[in-house]
Order: sequence, then C-alpha cells, then structure tokens
Amino acid sequence: MSMPAFKTDAAPARPKLYSVEEAKQLDATTVRELFTAHVNPGQVHFLKLLGFDKIIVDSAQGMHYITRDGRKILDFFGGFCSVAFGHNHPRIVAARQKFQDENRHEICMAFMSQYASALAANLAAIAPGDLDMVFLGSTGSEAMEAALKVAEQAQGPARSKILHAANSFHGKTKGVLSVTDSTLYQSQFKLVENRVKVPFGDIEAVRLALESDPAIGIVVMETIQGGGGIVEAPVGFWRELRALCDKHGVLWVADEVQCGLGRTGQFFAFERDGVVPDVTALAKALGGSKAAMGAMIARREIYMKAYGKPKTALIHAQATFGGMGEACISAIEALNVLYEEDLMGNAQRQGDYLIEKLNGLRAKHPSLLKEIRGRGLMIGIEFNDISETMPFGLKHMVALLDDKLKGSLCGFIGALLLKDYDMLVAFTEYNRNVIRLEPPLIVTREQCDEFVAALDDLLSRGITKIVTDYLRKVAVAKG
Ligand SMILES: Cc1ncc(COP(=O)(O)O)c(C=O)c1O
Repeated sequence: MSMPAFKTDAAPARPKLYSVEEAKQLDATTVRELFTAHVNPGQVHFLKLLGFDKIIVDSAQGMHYITRDGRKILDFFGGFCSVAFGHNHPRIVAARQKFQDENRHEICMAFMSQYASALAANLAAIAPGDLDMVFLGSTGSEAMEAALKVAEQAQGPARSKILHAANSFHGKTKGVLSVTDSTLYQSQFKLVENRVKVPFGDIEAVRLALESDPAIGIVVMETIQGGGGIVEAPVGFWRELRALCDKHGVLWVADEVQCGLGRTGQFFAFERDGVVPDVTALAKALGGSKAAMGAMIARREIYMKAYGKPKTALIHAQATFGGMGEACISAIEALNVLYEEDLMGNAQRQGDYLIEKLNGLRAKHPSLLKEIRGRGLMIGIEFNDISETMPFGLKHMVALLDDKLKGSLCGFIGALLLKDYDMLVAFTEYNRNVIRLEPPLIVTREQCDEFVAALDDLLSRGITKIVTDYLRKVAVAKG
C-alpha cells in the first residue's frame, strides 16, 4: 500500500495579510467590521451605545488622544491607571528608542537579565520593609496570580484558605477569578472553593473569620477598590488588619495594581497607614505607559519559605515574557521619571484640588451628584440613581437601547463628555452610578479646571436634556 504524498514543492499559499501601514490607515467602519468579526462582537454593542465606535485614534501625546479627524481628547480615563506617565512620555520613548538603536536583547531566559535585575532592585529599594523579592510578569492578573501562589506555597496546604472582600477585583485569569467578586466575570467557571468573603473594610467580619477558621492563611484585598467604585476602607482598618494577620499568622496580600505607583500621592496606597503587607502587586502604570509590565513583590522571609530552595525555585521562575528587556527598561525609566518629575506630589496636589472643585459641583447639582470620593488622582464621582426621576417616556426609550442605561446617568454623561467636550472618563464595573477619574499623573491645574467646567456645563442641562441630547446626538446619530 502506498502512502499518500504530503510533500509538495509548491510554496504555501499566502493569505491576504494586512501590512502595518495598511493597519494604520483602516477607517472606523472597517475597524468596526473586523472587531465584530474577529475580536468581540458583543463589545461593539457597548461601544456603539456610547458613540465610541466612531472614533479612530491616530496618535497620543501627554494628556491627549488625537483622533483621525483631528480632535484632541483630554484623557481623564488614563487607561484605568495604566497611563500614569501620560501618552508617549518623551523620556520613556527616548529610553526605548536608544535601547532599540543599540540592538539590545529582549528575551533573556537562558541568562540573567541585567534589566530585570535592576528593575527588581529598584522596586525593592522603593518598597518599604523587607518587601524585597520581585517576580516580573506582563499583567496585573499575572502579578496577582504570583502573589496568591507565593502566599499559598509559604503557608502550606493546611492554611491555604483565602479571605477576600466583597466587590473585589483582582483580575480575570482562572486563579484570581475565584477572588474577583463578580458573578458576571465568574460566570459558570469552576472556582476555587477554598475561600471566604467578607464586606470590604469591615474589621469585625475579618476578626470573626480569622478567629473561627484556622484554615484561613491568606487575606487578599485592594487597598482602594477600583472596580468596586473607588471605595476606601475606614480609617484604622489597615493597621487593625495588620495586627490581626500577625496575631493569627495570616499573610496579607495588598493588591496595588490600580491604586499603586504614586497615584494616591504615595508610591503604595497602604503607606499612608504606616503598614507593610506581606505581599503586594503592581502592574498597569509600571511599564511607563508604553509596555506591559506587572510585578509581585514579597517579603524576603515569605519568598524564601515558598521558593528559597533550588528544588522549589523553578516552581516560580518567570514566564516566557516575564522581564523582557524593553519592558524592563521602560519601567526603570518610568520609576526615575516618577521621582524626578515629582509626579506623586502632583498627584496629591491636583487630586486635592480636583476633589475640592468636584465637591463644589456636588453642592451646585445635588439632585445629580451623590458623592465625590477618593485619594490623589483616583477619584470616584457617584451620581444619584435616576430610575425614579427620569421621565417615564425617556426611561422607556433608553431601556429599548440597553437595560443598563435605565437607572444610571453615567453612560449619558460619559458619552456626552466625549461628544460635546472632547473628554474621556472611565466607567465602573460593579457600580453603574460611578464614573472613575484616573487621569495621568502629569495633569495640570488648568486641565482639571477644563474638566470641571465641562462637567458643570453638562450637568447644568438637567436630567431631561442630558438624556434627550444623548438620544439625539449619540444613540441615533449617524456617521
Ligand atoms: C486591582 C486590580 N487588580 C488586578 C487587575 C488585573 O490587571 P490586568 O487587567 O492587567 O490583568 C486589575 C485590572 O483592572 C485591577 O484593577
């Protein structure tokens, strides 16, 4: 029996591939079609609702996105804190350019990387106490996976139960999904059962849990909840948590992926309370707003217990892209910029100013604005629920577009800020009534004034006009 001939001399057929130059030139209609066909059709529905699907960004500089049609959009979203250094910070861009011009290596798994080592040393120098051991990855989820793994490995199987907070967000990968408190994200996935949930900031609930269940060996919490709607624990909570963890031999993992890296005016948000967790995680802004970079930082003693022996070291070794050259040098330059340009001081000053101005707006528009909260440049604007106050006819019309629009002003506000004022804000996963302001740490007082004036002008239209303007200009507008 003869075998079928698989060998052929013909070159494989080349599919039609976009070139880089062609990708740069794609128009909004084509991008929408490709995104729908190959990326996420459901997401296009939400982008359309907000009018975001009509925009193609051609470049970005500092505080602004520049669109294809020449609009300059002021970025108060900041990529959920990942654009802390502004878009294309000149020093970070120059460091990357030089690195490329010198043909430096990117992937260095066979040898020790001087860039990864220097970045780790910088992070250890910045982090308080003996938070000295660093794992580099590419995302916040990866950093948080590493954080929970080092804690679990150090505690051993008898104490591997994790206590986490209601409304928490720690990422969407399969491990951390179990402590991300969202039925939406958790969907029907099989989760880790070895976990227990308490209300965020409720020290008595933590005390009760730790006293009653010795299997709990790990507490994981965001220092400021981002996805939960910019929520802080009450004053004194972190000190009491630290004391409780020490008393019960529990490891505290502080998720600083969103709130860390200077955003609150201090490098880590937990530093305000003069406490040090056992493990922490950074990501988002760490790559200088140019590279994907995440880091887990553990106390040396805990790290050594988990992975300190040659036999255990490889359980933990970095993944393929952990500590890539250019990502590391972007982070190294970013950390230097953070101090040399006093971005933490700016975050504190502009944040205080913005919160004061926004509280002024709350006093002026009490029927619309419920609360302004946050620290530094991590600010939540909570709007009143408008389920009851929106005129019935309008309620019906917006519900036809999407049920999510019914009780919340945020969608209309975000869409009109972009449409009429060229300003971008962020929404919030778990609380539809909260808009997040997380602008780059380079924001100026004038830009804060510009933002507040635009929001004031928009809110002065009142609920009915805001909703009808949204319907007319965004929901049913063509082009
Ligand atoms: C507090 C927190 N932890 C973890 C993550 C996950 O980060 P990434 O999206 O980079 O995986 C996020 C992302 O928003 C976050 O806000």
